[in-house]
Amino acid sequence: MKIVVVHGSPRKGNTYKATELFKKEMQSQGEIECVDFFLPKDMPEFCRGCMTCFIKGEEKCPHADYTMPILDQMVLADALIFTTPVFALSLSGCMKSFLDHFAFIFIVHRARSEMFEKKTFIISSTVGAGAKSAMKTISTSLKYWGVNRVYTYNFATFGDEWDNLKLDKKNKIEKQIKQKASTFYKEVASGKLHSPYLHIRIMYSISKFILKKYTDEDSLDKKYWIEKGWYTGEKNPFKA
Ligand SMILES: Cc1cc2nc3c(=O)[nH]c(=O)nc-3n(C[C@H](O)[C@H](O)[C@H](O)COP(=O)(O)O)c2cc1C
Repeated sequence: MKIVVVHGSPRKGNTYKATELFKKEMQSQGEIECVDFFLPKDMPEFCRGCMTCFIKGEEKCPHADYTMPILDQMVLADALIFTTPVFALSLSGCMKSFLDHFAFIFIVHRARSEMFEKKTFIISSTVGAGAKSAMKTISTSLKYWGVNRVYTYNFATFGDEWDNLKLDKKNKIEKQIKQKASTFYKEVASGKLHSPYLHIRIMYSISKFILKKYTDEDSLDKKYWIEKGWYTGEKNPFKA
């Protein structure tokens, strides 16, 4: 099983340690191959808002040397894990910047067919507040990429570093992480696809409607949808 992990912080702190435990538990269930990307090192640029990915193609993005190898790995993976500490009641800036670079794979643009089969997991740590909003931003992007399922786990440290957590608190977090990792491993290994999220199916229909209204025949999005057979309805990414 191949897993891509995108770490939303360079710090090997609470989030990283929880993620390592998660990976270790998955590994105990069966063989996994992990490809780790660390932000901001592996995606050190902010999106410039030039629209090049949408208009001229993602390979022409000024940061394509960073984005394309990551996308290639994500497409190949069986599952994706995204992590973030909570910063200012939300996700880390480098994780947001990472997600900004992949807006071109939103369903309305040029979603990758492989994403429709992906199981994904988000891990977040906080002193006490903001995890829900941090994970929601990541989850929304992933759903708009078309992924099959998004699972989450967050924990509060109340200000302690991982190694200084009170023993009963730490035991509880470790137990929860192991449980989540084991369930996630089984879920990915099963290969079972769930019904697509309803609002994503609706979004897909709206996207098709929008694209039909495009008069610009050179639109990359429109060409992509035609090529995929989604434009005419001959093919459907949810029933690949
Ligand atoms: C710049 C910054 C902003 C933070 N903002 C919040 C916050 O809004 N709410 C919160 O509960 N914790 C906040 N924290 C605490 C971290 O989310 C928490 O300590 C987390 O476990 C750190 O993860 P790490 O050890 O993986 O870096 C903040 C930490 C930093 C550095």
